[in-house]
Amino acid sequence: MNIVRCGNYDDASRQAYHHLLSRLRDNEKAVLGLPTGSTPLGLYRCMTQGYVNGDFDYSGITTFNIDEYAGMERNNPDSYYLFMQRKLFNGINVAEERRHIPSGLGNLEHNCLEYDRLMEAAGGIDILVLAVGANGHIGFNEPGTPFESTTHIIELTGRTRADNARFFKSPEDVPEQALTMGIKLMMNAREIIFIGTGKEKADAVRRMVNGPVTTDCPASVLQLHPNITLYLDSEAAGDL
Ligand code: GLP
Repeated sequence: MNIVRCGNYDDASRQAYHHLLSRLRDNEKAVLGLPTGSTPLGLYRCMTQGYVNGDFDYSGITTFNIDEYAGMERNNPDSYYLFMQRKLFNGINVAEERRHIPSGLGNLEHNCLEYDRLMEAAGGIDILVLAVGANGHIGFNEPGTPFESTTHIIELTGRTRADNARFFKSPEDVPEQALTMGIKLMMNAREIIFIGTGKEKADAVRRMVNGPVTTDCPASVLQLHPNITLYLDSEAAGDL
């Protein structure tokens, strides 16, 4: 694991952006894996601002988001679908037909298989942007998820639902299930850019970097990835 210690959230976001930008310039048809949540917001701001400044033309890029809540209508303000439109896609020019977000509606088993098929057809993920949950989850791969998992439906833990309640009107509105890209597919990404910020992530980052590789901390599997760079602010790196 390459670890880059950054001063603060903005610095981590900026450094991660410049890393991503240099890879995109080398591969203008790259396939990206993208997360939601608070962590990537700074990176997404850099991407949209950079697009305005002419840093990069995203028209050849393909994206696959890593998760979505089950039962979530696309136009629900809490959907990751709408999150991505608002925070990234409205501000850059990825073609609509090349943006993929798992669908939490209809036959979920079918949606998972179809998502894997689409990723395979796209040639897999070139660059996966990742963050970690406070309990060590990546995407929505909660503790206990097998490392060999493909895209699947997952029961969210109480901890994750509580952590994500800040995005919802009321904690009861947080869905109990989600769809997530599996760990196997994440590990197959050719490169991973990880961002970890804030003191509430320090313990997960410590277990991810220094702990045993165990499904108890799904992020610990990233120790086995051959090409991963961690951008950590001083708080998230505080327990290393
Ligand atoms: C969330 C998301 C993940 C995200 C992680 C960290 O629940 N499902 O995709 O990477 O947990 O979230 P945050 O960046 O908001 O702390």
